Amino acid sequence: MTLGSGPSDSDTCEDCCSSCPDDGGGFHPSIFSDNRAAVERRDYAKLLATVGGLTAVGSLTAPLAGLTRVFERSYTGPVYSDGIYLVDGEGERVSESALAEGEKMTVFPEPRPGIERAPTLLVRHAKEAYSGGTKLEYTVAGYAAYSKVCTHAGCMVSNEEGETLVCPCHFGKFDPTAGAKVVGGPPPRPLPQLPITLSSEGYLIATGDFEGPVGAGGE
Ligand code: FES
Repeated sequence: MTLGSGPSDSDTCEDCCSSCPDDGGGFHPSIFSDNRAAVERRDYAKLLATVGGLTAVGSLTAPLAGLTRVFERSYTGPVYSDGIYLVDGEGERVSESALAEGEKMTVFPEPRPGIERAPTLLVRHAKEAYSGGTKLEYTVAGYAAYSKVCTHAGCMVSNEEGETLVCPCHFGKFDPTAGAKVVGGPPPRPLPQLPITLSSEGYLIATGDFEGPVGAGGE
């Protein structure tokens, strides 16, 4: 099923970035486009990201929502680090019971100075559903977390086809049960996985930062 509208699967970034479907505010480059350490010092006033789409109950066909600045201009630290809580769109910490198997939602690092919102995809599957690619040591209780920022050109991966995560800009497709590997479209690499575990109170927390570069570039 085709979700959303936009260029065909055969489009390439070079052909169509200037005409990407977007949220009405024009095409936005990756908010991270790591080298994170270098990018984070650049002009964050221009680093906008569309946040929205994924919810726990799957309203994934919703158009990309309003613009949200992800980092403060001066922010220079990691997106996540050990012990940072994952929170939902209302800022509530995400408990182990937040999702049933097969559900997905967008989460964020608990706000701290410099970090306002950094969209992250949280999925839950039976442990045996994960195949090679997903680092099981980065999962907990069937939960796996990946960056929501497409590795092609930095759009938000906000749609789905069954279990497949779909980027609406050029129909890049990622398999969340296989390390978010690319299963369609132009993205050059998987969505980087976030190592997570449960806190002693039963909330999801990170144990470090994303395993690889977030967003476009960074190969
Ligand atoms: S930005 Fe091109 S497929 Fe996601």
